[in-house]
Amino acid sequence: MQHSAVLNVMIKAAYRAGRGLKRDLGEIEKLQVSVKGPGNFVTAADRRAEEILREDLAKARPDYGFLGEEGGLHRGSDKTHRWIVDPLDGTTNFLHGIPHFAVSIALEREGVIVAGLTYNPANDELFVAERGKGAFLDNQRIRVAARRRLGEAIVGCGLPHYGRGDLALARFEIAAAQQNFAGLRRYGSASLDLAWVAAGRLDAYWERDLSPWDMAAGVLLVREAGGFVSDLDGGDAILAKGHVAAGNETMHRELLRLLSEARKAAAAAPA
Ligand code: IPD
Ligand code: CA
Ligand code: CA
Repeated sequence: MQHSAVLNVMIKAAYRAGRGLKRDLGEIEKLQVSVKGPGNFVTAADRRAEEILREDLAKARPDYGFLGEEGGLHRGSDKTHRWIVDPLDGTTNFLHGIPHFAVSIALEREGVIVAGLTYNPANDELFVAERGKGAFLDNQRIRVAARRRLGEAIVGCGLPHYGRGDLALARFEIAAAQQNFAGLRRYGSASLDLAWVAAGRLDAYWERDLSPWDMAAGVLLVREAGGFVSDLDGGDAILAKGHVAAGNETMHRELLRLLSEARKAAAAAPA
């Protein structure tokens, strides 16, 4: 598979940042048992990874803007291009030594995501997509799963957690999903959840309260793998609204329907 020059730049940057994170994961396993714990070390690892990405991407495309989770927005002189970067998606997993986290990079051109990658350094899996060129896992073409029966589907989700999200609403949504799908999974890295939908590992996925860098690459991966992805109202304002649903055509439609019913039930329930 022949990648464009810009995707090769992204891949090289992700590999370099990923190498650092993988080394750091080894260190965390040691810090886990120390009294201080690995908290500060993880913050530093996260920042270091973003610096590497910024440096490598800026070297290749000095004029592009850069939106990173850690450093925020840096406007470029080229107003039509912007990188959207999560240097470490799945920080809580990383902090606990769980090898499920990713470096995720998207390139936006005039408001449209044209290239995206999500890389898990722990198992060296690289998911890439370019607009109109398909989605790939380690150079093999990937497609969303073909399953149509909800009762056979494995569905990824996010969960509100300590200090974040609408717990009452989530209870209705989770209950609706539990009653209809074969199984729910909460893996803790939104960019990998979307990549796994693209690769057909998850039949569908939804989550709320996300940021653009969690989803930008994954949205393109799912579409290029033949899947459907939208915000939870069925529209295209995924990055702006911060919520997402993805799957093949049937799974995506049915998931939106179930979640919308759950929302109505939650609104009608006594407080
Ligand atoms: C988080 C992960 C997680 C999702 C959170 C995100 P971070 O990103 O994607 O799966 O549930 O909402 O914030 O903080 O690890 O970069
Ligand atoms: Ca993230
Ligand atoms: Ca992050």
